[in-house]
Amino acid sequence: MQEDLSRKKFLQYTAIAGAATLLGSLESFASTVSPAKLRVGIIGCGSVSNRYIPHLQTSSLVEIVSLCDIKYDRALAQKKQYNLTAATYPDIDAMLQGVPFDLLVTITDMQAHGMLNKKALQAGKHVWSEKPMANSYAEGKALLDLASSKKLRLWGAPAVVNSPQFAFMSKTLQAGKLGRVASAHGQYGHTGPTWSAFFYEKGGGSMPDLGVYNIATLTGLLGPAKSVMAMTSIVNPERTVDDKGKVKVEAEDNAHILLEHEKGAISHIMCGFNYFDPHGHEAKGQTLHSIQIFGDYGNMRLIGYDWEPLGVYLDN
Ligand SMILES: NC(=O)c1ccc[n+]([C@@H]2O[C@H](COP(=O)([O-])OP(=O)(O)OC[C@H]3O[C@@H](n4cnc5c(N)ncnc54)[C@H](O)[C@@H]3O)[C@@H](O)[C@H]2O)c1
Repeated sequence: MQEDLSRKKFLQYTAIAGAATLLGSLESFASTVSPAKLRVGIIGCGSVSNRYIPHLQTSSLVEIVSLCDIKYDRALAQKKQYNLTAATYPDIDAMLQGVPFDLLVTITDMQAHGMLNKKALQAGKHVWSEKPMANSYAEGKALLDLASSKKLRLWGAPAVVNSPQFAFMSKTLQAGKLGRVASAHGQYGHTGPTWSAFFYEKGGGSMPDLGVYNIATLTGLLGPAKSVMAMTSIVNPERTVDDKGKVKVEAEDNAHILLEHEKGAISHIMCGFNYFDPHGHEAKGQTLHSIQIFGDYGNMRLIGYDWEPLGVYLDN
């Protein structure tokens, strides 16, 4: 690891590097806003809110003032579960007209992100959005333009480039320690979410849910993609999920993506909802690598998943 990173600090980073690595970004931002505490509204009180809410509660610079879910009982349940004083709402319009807040944290079904983020920006709120921040390139670009025109901040998960392991890999590459970089590979999969149908409905899929982590890591390390090719398929045409029972799978659940970066480097990402992993969805205790980078002087592997990296092997 980097020489200037103490073991204690490294372990602290690693412990918080899950779905909700937003605090690092938000705390430096919070110190610039007035009033001193950043007032946060959370929309979507499902599975991942159980990571976001306690994580946000650890900061003295952040206050959760508003909770919203179209399944309103979920907003009420999370308020009680986490002992919050927040106001609760059953839809975005009521939320935006209710208790004032500075930043919307969007953690709903993927298909609703673009619409909700747009409404929040239009109402003058900063936005932190789970992936994807929008459902098409055009919608995402329009959101960014809207945020810039209103001098608002727009963050999009995943925050994989914030880890010290990523910083180490990036510095290693920039120092030329791998020589000429030719190829890279990323993989992320499990046997698929069991709680909500949206992952399998139109606009869902393994790419926006899982592949996006590796895409962010590999474009972060090797630079933007100049061209992209992908092949996708549906391996399991029917799923049983908690919220809707048996559903037909409409979005891909198996994807391979090729990215062309600068100077001839090519990376490959595979993701899917049909990957057996003995470490499960949470990947606790994972010891295998999920990212590999090959150059003509050396190669590098990221151990564990890029959203909870455990270390880096460097051979050169
Ligand atoms: N669950 C995880 O471990 C995890 C990890 C990282 C990222 N994510 C991302 O977080 C997001 C949410 O995933 P989840 O697993 O928590 O899903 P979930 O189904 O458990 O929760 C989503 C919640 O959003 C609510 N919702 C949907 N549309 C809404 C709308 N228009 N207004 C208000 N509320 C609305 C739903 O009623 C539901 O309670 C997804 O983008 C997912 O990719 C999830």
